[in-house]
Amino acid sequence: MLPHKQIEQRLQQAVRAVLPDADLATVLVRPCPDAKFGDYQSAALMALAKPRKLNPRQLAGDVLAKLDLSDVCEPVEIAGAGFLNFRLKNSALVAALAAAARGEHLFFEKTTQPRTVVVDFSSPNVAKPMHVGHIRSTILGDCLARVLRLLGHRVITDNHLGDWGTQFGMLLVGWQRNLNPAALKSDPLAEMERLYKKLSAECKENPATLEAAKQELVKLQGGDAENLRIWREMIALSQVQFDTIYARLGVKFDNTLGESFYNPRLPALVEELVAKGIARESEGALAVFFDDIAQLKKQPALIRKSDGGFNYTTTDLATLAHRLETWKPDEIIYVTDGRQQLHFQQVFTAFRRWRPEAAKVQFAHVWFGSILGEDGKPFKTRSGETVKLADLLDEAEERAFKVVSEKNPDLNESARREVARVIGLGAVKYADLLPNRQSDYVFSWDKMLALNGNTAPYLQYAYARIRSIFKKGELDQSAIRNLQSAIHLGAPEEIALARQLLNFGLVLEAAATEYRPNFICNYLYDLAGLFARFYESCPVLKANEAGRASRLLLCDLTGRVLASGLAVLGIETLDQM
Ligand code: ARG
Repeated sequence: MLPHKQIEQRLQQAVRAVLPDADLATVLVRPCPDAKFGDYQSAALMALAKPRKLNPRQLAGDVLAKLDLSDVCEPVEIAGAGFLNFRLKNSALVAALAAAARGEHLFFEKTTQPRTVVVDFSSPNVAKPMHVGHIRSTILGDCLARVLRLLGHRVITDNHLGDWGTQFGMLLVGWQRNLNPAALKSDPLAEMERLYKKLSAECKENPATLEAAKQELVKLQGGDAENLRIWREMIALSQVQFDTIYARLGVKFDNTLGESFYNPRLPALVEELVAKGIARESEGALAVFFDDIAQLKKQPALIRKSDGGFNYTTTDLATLAHRLETWKPDEIIYVTDGRQQLHFQQVFTAFRRWRPEAAKVQFAHVWFGSILGEDGKPFKTRSGETVKLADLLDEAEERAFKVVSEKNPDLNESARREVARVIGLGAVKYADLLPNRQSDYVFSWDKMLALNGNTAPYLQYAYARIRSIFKKGELDQSAIRNLQSAIHLGAPEEIALARQLLNFGLVLEAAATEYRPNFICNYLYDLAGLFARFYESCPVLKANEAGRASRLLLCDLTGRVLASGLAVLGIETLDQM
C-alpha cells in the first residue's frame, strides 16, 4: 500500500477510536503545501472539532495518542490551529520506490469503489467543419475520461453530435438548388459550409427563401423520404471528417448518439412535464420556470416553441433520461464552453424535478474559457475566419517539423515527420490542458513549441533524455527493475525526486475530482525539473555499482511516471527526439 494511504487509513482508525461518530470519509491526507513542514498533511481534525466545540489541538493530541505510524513516519507534528504534518521515513520512501520498481504500482492505486461516469464531450455540429472552439472540449473531455479510467472507474464516452435543428432547413434548400457535386466530392464540409452561408444570407434578404427553408425543415421533421436521405448523407459526410480528426488526436468514443437520436422521446417528455406541473404555457410556447431559484429567476427554459418545434433543453432532458436508463451512471460530466452554463443549470434543475428518484446521480458541467489570438481577441485566421481544426493540426505538425529539422538534420525525413507529428500534436494538446480551464488563454505557437518552459516538448524531451541514458549505458531497462533492493536515497536531490514520484496518484485523484487536468501538467513539469536537478548533481552512469543501480532505478521510475502522465493527457512520447 502507498504510504499516504497507509497514513490515511491509520489516521481514520485513530479518529474512530476518539470520535466514534465521525464521518471517516472526511479524514483525508494531502500533500503538504510546503515541504518544510513535511510530506503530507491533514486538516481533517479542525473540521471535526468545530461542530463538536472541541479544542482542535486538544483533539489532535488525543488522536495522536491512538496513532502509531512509527514504521512509516517521523514523529507526527501538530501545527497551527490543528493540522497534522507527516514526514515519511527514508525507509518508507525506499520501500514505496522498490514496490514500484517491482511493478506493484506506479504511485497510484486503482479505486476500490469504481463509479460509472458518462463523459459528454466534443459534440460538434454536423455539416460544419470542426473549428478551433471544439478543440478544448475534445482535449479536456478525452483527458478526463483517461484519468478516470486509469483510476479504475467505468467510463462511458458519448459524442452528442449536433445533428438536428433549424439549420437543416437552409442546408436542404441549398443542397437542392446550389449543390456543386464536384466540390462536395473533394471537400464535403467546405461545400456544406458554403451552402449554409449562402442560404443563411439569402434567407435574410428574401422572405421566400426563408419560407422555403422552413418548409423543407417541416418536411424533414415529418419524415419526408428524400429530405431524410439528404440529411443522412450530410451526417455521414461530416462523420468522415470528424473521424479523421479524432484519429489524429487519438480520441475514441464509446457512443456517438446525436441529438436526433432523442427525437422520438420528445413529445411524450413534454407532455409529462406539463402533466406534472413542471412546465407551463407561456406566450404559446411551453417552458419550465425557476422562480424559486435566485440565479435562474426570469430565466425560463423553453421546451417547446410556439411552432411546435423542440429546444436544445428538451433534447438534453431526453438525453439524461436515456443515459440514466441505459448506463445507470453515478455521474455525468459535460464538457463545453462557459457560455452554456445557464443551459446546464436549467437542464440539471429541471431534471431533478422531473426525476427526483435519481437524486443520487451527480451532474457536472465542466466548462472552459475561449482561445484568444496573440492580440487578445478571439483566435482567428489572418483573413479573420474561424480556424479550422484540421488546418490547425497541420500547422502544428509543420512548425514542429521545422524545429525538429533544425535540431536533428541527420534524421531521415520520414523519421523527422513522425517526431514532428508527436511533438506538434502534443504541444497543441498541452497548451490547452495547462491553463486553468476556466480562464481564456492566448494561443501562441512559439510558446507551446518551446523546448524550455512548461510545454509538452519539454516534457517529451525529458522523457527521451531518460531513455537515452539507458541507451548510452547499453542497459536493459527491465533488468534494472530487478535491482530494487539497491535503492538508496542519500542526496537531497534524490529524496526530492522520490517524494515527487510518490505524489503522482494524489495528483491524478485531485485532477479527477476537480476536473482539472492542469494539476497533472504542473505536476509533470515539477517532476521534470526535479529530475533535471537530480541528474545534474548526482552522477548516474559514472556512479559506483550500487549507486548506479539505485540511480538508474530513479531514472526508470521517473521515465515511467512521465510517460504515464503524458499518456493520461493524451500525449505520446518518443524514445528519441
Ligand atoms: N453541440 C453543442 C455545441 O457545439 C455541444 C453539445 C454539448 N452536449 C450536450 N449534451 N448538450 O455547442
